[in-house]
Amino acid sequence: MASKEEKVGNLKPVQIDLILRPFRYDNDTLNDIMGRLHKEMEKGLKKETNPDATVKMLATYVRAVPDGTESGDFLSLDLGGSNFRVLHVHIEKGAKDVRLQSDSYAIPENIMTGPGEQLFDYIADCMAKFLEKIGMKERKMALGFTFSFPCKQRGLDCASLIKWTKGFSAAGVEGEDVVRLLRDAIKRRGDFDTDVVAVVNDTVGTMMACGLADHDCLIGLIVGTGSNACYMEKLDNVEIWEGERGEPNQVVVNMEWGAFGEDGALDDLRTPYDREIDEHSINKGQQIYEKMISGMYMGELVRLVLLEMTKQMLVFGGRTSTELETRGTFQTKYVSEIEEEPIGDMGPTMKILHSLGLKHATETDCGTVREVCRAVSTRAAHLVSAGISAIVNKMGRERVAVGVDGSVYKYHPHFKELMTQTIDKLTHCDVKLMLSEDGSGKGAALVTAVACRLAGKS
Ligand code: GLC
Repeated sequence: MASKEEKVGNLKPVQIDLILRPFRYDNDTLNDIMGRLHKEMEKGLKKETNPDATVKMLATYVRAVPDGTESGDFLSLDLGGSNFRVLHVHIEKGAKDVRLQSDSYAIPENIMTGPGEQLFDYIADCMAKFLEKIGMKERKMALGFTFSFPCKQRGLDCASLIKWTKGFSAAGVEGEDVVRLLRDAIKRRGDFDTDVVAVVNDTVGTMMACGLADHDCLIGLIVGTGSNACYMEKLDNVEIWEGERGEPNQVVVNMEWGAFGEDGALDDLRTPYDREIDEHSINKGQQIYEKMISGMYMGELVRLVLLEMTKQMLVFGGRTSTELETRGTFQTKYVSEIEEEPIGDMGPTMKILHSLGLKHATETDCGTVREVCRAVSTRAAHLVSAGISAIVNKMGRERVAVGVDGSVYKYHPHFKELMTQTIDKLTHCDVKLMLSEDGSGKGAALVTAVACRLAGKS
């Protein structure tokens, strides 16, 4: 007769599979998600239904892509991930790329979550340091501000923050025009001056940056700390547009798709781990789709699944560690590192598990950990692909390029391949994914350059 241990051992793969199954989507499910998102997009674009839509489909004031005649020196700011960046961008007529120099500054948590004025003073302080360093403090340059949060725009240089997302919660900023807050902070210092011309979302910047090399780049995507997409929509389809109509008959729409699911539209697909992440987040009930996809949550999802498997004696001999039981210890970059390993070489995974106090992990455990990482990251790639396919099918073009940026897309070893395969199954369009290095910062400078060109300033 088999011992109790042996029985548990034989059942392990079945039980592991049971836990991971809800992360695995077949084609029907992906088609279903596409349909649900398409509905939300329509709802967001129509005046009457927009107030109830979760996916807000925010009209930007970006209506033209670079035509290659832009030139000059510009400043860009990039706020929205874990680092804040200042860039000096030099654009030359006809070039397929731009020249840039930049510096990155960590944003301490107390600045992300403290008073808004302090956040903008910090931004202005970093700008002053950067301008000093590159010897351009005396020169007044046009500036593009990449501000990667949902904003209601009333012009290219006027954007009020609707709500904070990701880890930010600085007080007194929601409902305010962030360009005014930036201008005020620069004025308070008084030691340099700039001309803030444009404020753009990172998705828009990314799309514009890739647009230099490929004029069919009409979609921008971010899979990093957060996740979101934008695309070029026909103005006739954008009922909520409050600006001037007429040529060009198009406008870039920042979807803010991270909020998809806030009305329960994805509830049947959410796992207990997704619910737990939401429960402990600073924006409970919000950004549901984003929480199933992006880098801010991916590692934590893996940790929660591993904890459950440990409880069920399926991994680590049923023994956890203080680290594994502590929120946020399983970093998202581990997921990429673990999946990057050649099959059979468990070295790096073992190292990561040791650093998490799991010295008792076996080679079999390493295999299970890898399986969990793969299930969680593949679901993310599938969800993003369903989203992009919904956009592509709505656009109805034969060919389109997607500018993509963000740490998950950039560093995960299989993300791009998974997306390419999945989008191919879900659409009839020739879709090219283009990695955009430094896209959001470059793009803000390009939007600024286009605006200066149209205004006859360059
Ligand atoms: C969050 C923000 C969105 C941004 C995305 C990627 O979803 O709300 O504006 O584009 O993160 O950074």
